[in-house]
Amino acid sequence: MGNCGTREENAVVAAHAQVQQLHLLQHPVKNAVVERKHTRISSDMSDPSTPRKIEDAKNISIYNDVIDFTLFELETITKSFRADYVLGEGGFGTVYKGYIDENVRVGLKSLPVAVKVLNKDGHQGHREWLTEVRFLGQLRHPNLVKLIGYCCEDDHRLLVYEFMFRGSLENHLFRRTATPLPWATRMSIALGAAKGLACLHNAERPIIYRDFKTSNILLDSDYTAKLSDFGLAKAGPEGDETHVSTRVMGTYGYAAPEYVMTGHLTARSDVYSFGVVLLELLTGRKSIDKSRPSREHSLVDWALPKLNDKRRLLQIIDPKLEGQYSVRAAHKACSLAYYCLSQNPKARPLMSDVVP
Ligand SMILES: Nc1ncnc2c1ncn2[C@@H]1O[C@H](COP(=O)(O)OP(=O)(O)OP(=O)(O)O)[C@@H](O)[C@H]1O
Ligand SMILES: [Mg+2]
Repeated sequence: MGNCGTREENAVVAAHAQVQQLHLLQHPVKNAVVERKHTRISSDMSDPSTPRKIEDAKNISIYNDVIDFTLFELETITKSFRADYVLGEGGFGTVYKGYIDENVRVGLKSLPVAVKVLNKDGHQGHREWLTEVRFLGQLRHPNLVKLIGYCCEDDHRLLVYEFMFRGSLENHLFRRTATPLPWATRMSIALGAAKGLACLHNAERPIIYRDFKTSNILLDSDYTAKLSDFGLAKAGPEGDETHVSTRVMGTYGYAAPEYVMTGHLTARSDVYSFGVVLLELLTGRKSIDKSRPSREHSLVDWALPKLNDKRRLLQIIDPKLEGQYSVRAAHKACSLAYYCLSQNPKARPLMSDVVP
């Protein structure tokens, strides 16, 4: 068993030596140009460590600058949730565009917003809504979507976010009609998302995000990446604990293998998911794509052997980039993805190693 320990330590040292900080990978490009759904993982419906009671919602008033909207106000700004105001749809429900200003409530700053409405028949519910309000309501960071407010009236549950002008990274990477994102933009998105994760992991009481994927990375007008969707976030282990035991939740293709197998959740599970998203940015391929030949269904299985092979590594880079990247930067980014995707969680870098 002694050997095991030694191998593990070596792997950690090697990973840290190889970690290439993402900000160094953005610029070496000469001529930059600027369907769904995922399968959700949910092992059972009860999780004693997340809030249970409707009354818990009362505690959210401690977050001073998060606004408690009335249903009427949110109906007004979305024209009664009109179909042409729909921005998208996810597991929680439908997301609408809206605009708040003095006409909605005296004292409100003029601001475009996104209003997410809990689908009462959906598989997510009050618990996820409350988790989102609790975590996102107290976090402020340039790479986390700002929660402007919420609504909790009868059995209605809504969330109001800052509006993200360019929508999700998923749409930019995978929508057929989208203009291919240039290399520098992809690396800057990876860096922004990594900073968002690092902020959560380094919080006084660390937070594990648990649902890191391209549809939860939203892009501002200048392509600044921000994490959204904190419904599955979890407080990290405390004291001597090495992990949090929890029902397995997340999205197939992104969840770390040891977490899916054991339900043991650590910040390194998020690092694995970061590796998957980095791989999607590098290859332009989805984490799971059943429309490809069977040996290419799983992006990680297909790409991993090539990531560590300098002769084959350029074969996996997104052909839509048309060679508009430096080979050195591609090597470094692939090396980072390789270490983030280590089977051994301890061999993965920390998010704080990845960001400057
Ligand atoms: N703050 C926002 N600003 C602009 N568009 C948004 C915002 N939040 C969500 N959207 C749009 O709504 C879509 C649905 O988002 P939502 O988070 O509900 O689902 P999802 O991430 O696609 O799926 P999942 O339920 O698996 O998280 C997003 O893909 C995005 O296009
Ligand atoms: Mg989402």
